Amino acid sequence: MANGGADAGNGGGEGTRRSVLVTGGAGFIGTHTALQLLEKGYDVTAVDNFHNSVPEALERVRHIVGPALSTRLHFILGDLTIKEDLEKVFAAKRYDAVIHFAGLKAVGESVAHPEMYNRNNIVGTVNLYDAMKEHGCNKLVFSSSATVYGQPEKVPCVEDSALKALNPYGRTKLYLEEMLRDYQHANPEGRTILLRYFNPIGAHESGEIGEDPRGIPNNLLPYIQQVAVGRLPVLNVYGHDYRTRDGTAVRDYIHVVDLASGHIAALEKLFATPDIGCVAYNLGTGRGTTVLEMVHAFEKAYGKKIPIKMCPRRPGDSEEVYASTEKAERELGWRAQYGVEEMCRDQWKWAAKNPYGYRGSADKKD
Ligand code: UD1
Repeated sequence: MANGGADAGNGGGEGTRRSVLVTGGAGFIGTHTALQLLEKGYDVTAVDNFHNSVPEALERVRHIVGPALSTRLHFILGDLTIKEDLEKVFAAKRYDAVIHFAGLKAVGESVAHPEMYNRNNIVGTVNLYDAMKEHGCNKLVFSSSATVYGQPEKVPCVEDSALKALNPYGRTKLYLEEMLRDYQHANPEGRTILLRYFNPIGAHESGEIGEDPRGIPNNLLPYIQQVAVGRLPVLNVYGHDYRTRDGTAVRDYIHVVDLASGHIAALEKLFATPDIGCVAYNLGTGRGTTVLEMVHAFEKAYGKKIPIKMCPRRPGDSEEVYASTEKAERELGWRAQYGVEEMCRDQWKWAAKNPYGYRGSADKKD
């Protein structure tokens, strides 16, 4: 499905090209979104502190889009928890909108270091909002997560379900959603979209950019990928006694390229809808896949078996989580295009080309 009009960023010529600030622009979802923004004619400024990302990722984006479009990609090294960095970012340019990805997302780490999560996710967003307000920028697309549904009592998850946080990471996302709703209420001229991601996986079809987590991955596909390239010996399958088709837990995996196009659709919605207020949308496929189905889909792309070990359930995990996609389809005109087969094909392409991620080799990694 088309995701908004073509060349929406190119609002009538060089002088009026729309400019978007992308926080966390060097990260997994940030790079894929920056790439599509450039392709759509936007001028992009990425800000990143490289806590969980590397400069090479943006170099690869430049390489994919080519020399002409890459002149429209700007980068500022900066940390949203440092107000002076934000001053630098907003002094550099006038932004028509902000897409805010920067933040931490590892559940286990958030339990061990909740203060780090509050500082990065909450203080960072408070500072960003203050700077936006001061500089007259009132359009924001915020990275939220399906984590705000907690352990859903009913699936598919619809946007107006009860929300609940199960860990400090989830609490930061839930609080920020509520905070942004309060801010909207107090500043009705603002336009805010909260995007609740389900499970983003896959990579750009070039295999040049993809997810490159530090240390041992927590999430399923990065873990499978590291088993495939020989960095880890076996996949632990957490839980095989759920009430699902094969006993393993069900999630809604979404291709990162679809997720990125969901951001373009959200941005275009913001530009087109002055009275939008603050609205949440799910970005998922609406289809649930079990852990074992995912392993088999990956094996098909990889051409070999992934060794697995059945393990007890992971504490805090839900049995079945998948999105209702109706609201995003209806209001954003956006729908995911790719299935798990394409997600695994592109994940494997990225892995095969970059077995040690952007940093190239085992000794340079982590
Ligand atoms: C997890 C987080 C969620 C966060 C999301 C970010 C928890 C409880 N939830 O979601 O808050 O927003 O990541 O993408 O951590 N699995 C295995 N073996 C593994 C890894 C995972 O069997 O090595 C299973 C899990 O038990 C789960 C499924 O694979 O059933 C997906 O796990 P994961 O990729 O971590 O995503 P979520 O649990 O959905």
